[in-house]
Amino acid sequence: MSDLMSDPMSDPLRHIQSLLPPHNTRNVTAEAYAPANIALCKYWGKRDARLKLPVTDSLSVSLGTHGTRMTLQRAETDHLSINGQPISADSQTHRRLFDFLDLIRAPEHRLAIDSINTIPIAAGLASSASAFACAVKAIETLYAWELPPRLRSILARLGSGSASRSVFEGFVQWHAGTAPDGMDSYAEPLAPLWPDFRIGILTVSEAPKPIGSTEAMERTVQTAPLYEAWPRQVERDLPRLQQAIRDHDFATLGQVAEHNALAMHATMIASWPPVIYWLPETTAHLHKIHHLRREGLPVYATLDAGPNLKLLYTAEHETDLKAHFPHLIQIQH
Ligand code: DP6
Repeated sequence: MSDLMSDPMSDPLRHIQSLLPPHNTRNVTAEAYAPANIALCKYWGKRDARLKLPVTDSLSVSLGTHGTRMTLQRAETDHLSINGQPISADSQTHRRLFDFLDLIRAPEHRLAIDSINTIPIAAGLASSASAFACAVKAIETLYAWELPPRLRSILARLGSGSASRSVFEGFVQWHAGTAPDGMDSYAEPLAPLWPDFRIGILTVSEAPKPIGSTEAMERTVQTAPLYEAWPRQVERDLPRLQQAIRDHDFATLGQVAEHNALAMHATMIASWPPVIYWLPETTAHLHKIHHLRREGLPVYATLDAGPNLKLLYTAEHETDLKAHFPHLIQIQH
């Protein structure tokens, strides 16, 4: 046992570090961009919290020009600014990013990071997926590495699970994998986006979430009896989504994505203490969407760890959607 413990290869994080090329010190600055993504089949629940290994596969669509742009600069001390605002070194955001960077940067290097979110602030979209994916790409540029795409995705995953998907564009699938060291848990691009696929955000609240997604998913796995059914939901939804993407079958894609999101929320509501992200307006919007669908307008909704809705529709119904939801922010076009 002690032999095993002293072997660097027995620690998955050290194993991943051993796969990185040498830290080239020529560059002192680097820039990168990564898009945000929205899951059509959600990642909800980990089998390993430290390595951020998911219980199930998930599938997302990337948000093009909406994401994170980062500039890294070698510096005397670590420093982070987000959208021009300095972030305190004591904050969780600061700690989480630099703890993550400690895994991949040269131990002696300190970095000044300027991070800009190109997602409309009012959209209230989580930025951790694009931020960690972008951090990996920026580090890669800083050290003049060319990482295999799988390793890039695995590294981003160690920052935030959903970041594993943000290193790619278009429709992306994250394979859960089964290996205890997570080396088979990475994302892969499935297909480019359809030109007429649209996503709009309906913001219900910009207030901070009552509970973050990491803690909420842990609580769901530990306390919700309904969680047992979640892997079966994903098994049913994934192949249908893959087929819908291949066929450009928007109605099936919308139905499956909405069902998947509502099943995820039903599962988290069944946790104790309950995880209820919805606000009254969330439900009101869902009723309105269902009413519009009955009237013949093909629009579907998906929701993540928060009260805001993401509407899925196609270009031909853009004008109608904007008329029915004047505050809709179209983010994918
Ligand atoms: C509801 O990737 O933010 O958006 O791995 O703990 O950082 P951690 O969680 P995170 O969870 C995203 C959850 C989700 C669904 C999804 O994006 O698949």
